[in-house]
Amino acid sequence: MEIQLWREILSPYEQAVDELLIKFNHIIAQYRNQGLYSPIETVTGRVKKISSILDKLQKKKIPMDRIYEEMDDIAGIRVICQFAEDIYKVVEIIRSRSDMRIREEKDYIKNAKASGYQSYHIILDYDVYTIDGLKTIQAEIQIRTLAMNFWATIEHSLQYKYKKNMPEHIRQKLHAAADATVTLDKEMSSVREEIMDAQNSFNIKATIVSEILVNIQNLYQVGNQREVIKIQDEFYKIYQSGDMQLLKTFATQLDIIAEGYKAQSLN
Ligand code: GTP
Ligand code: MG
Repeated sequence: MEIQLWREILSPYEQAVDELLIKFNHIIAQYRNQGLYSPIETVTGRVKKISSILDKLQKKKIPMDRIYEEMDDIAGIRVICQFAEDIYKVVEIIRSRSDMRIREEKDYIKNAKASGYQSYHIILDYDVYTIDGLKTIQAEIQIRTLAMNFWATIEHSLQYKYKKNMPEHIRQKLHAAADATVTLDKEMSSVREEIMDAQNSFNIKATIVSEILVNIQNLYQVGNQREVIKIQDEFYKIYQSGDMQLLKTFATQLDIIAEGYKAQSLN
């Protein structure tokens, strides 16, 4: 196969990774913009390197012309969650969408692999519209917690280092570390509500403050500047008091003032 053909082969997978990243990042943004806790912490994606594709074709004895059908992880997305519960929420989000059709799923959290590996894997059928028309490709989504991801990253490096010959004492240490990961995720889940509450109030406060400052800036451009400076001083005083209720009331009042100016300028 010639080198140019690889570009054609990989192009729909690159598009799929780009699109899926946008979609997952918007899920995060929509939760956060509404002041809600996002079950997704971060998302990353990659297209498998040609050398890794060649290795896998060889290992699994897959002929070149069966890449579309047989390779399910050329497009790869990794969704990282804070808590194990969030993983199942993300699975439900994916299940509810018609643009991500689940073809296969493996729960390596309920049934960890022999290595100790934990993650939830979904293989999708995903439609990409290219200049050559519609192409349905497979994409692999790995959903795991921060702790599971930490373990998998370290273990992957060690696997790479030792190839098939991982020393027994390292294997045992990795097993112990995998058990510790399970314990850590369980402990974190037990304080999940409290952590979520703390993060939510932080997000709500940040949103209110940025709305107030945008309003103040807009008013400064159209209103009586001395009055606006007074409003700003008032804001800093309330902010420093740390009283969230006062801050909310202030934001609402400022909204009303800003609306009033907007109505005036439209007249
Ligand atoms: P593949 O031939 O790798 O596709 O195996 P499979 O089709 O049985 O899929 P599986 O769901 O087991 O694994 C798919 C991907 O999950 C791998 O390519 C890795 O990225 C990851 N993975 C699976 N097992 C392990 C493991 O023991 N350690 C680490 N670090 N990653 C793993
Ligand atoms: Mg696979």
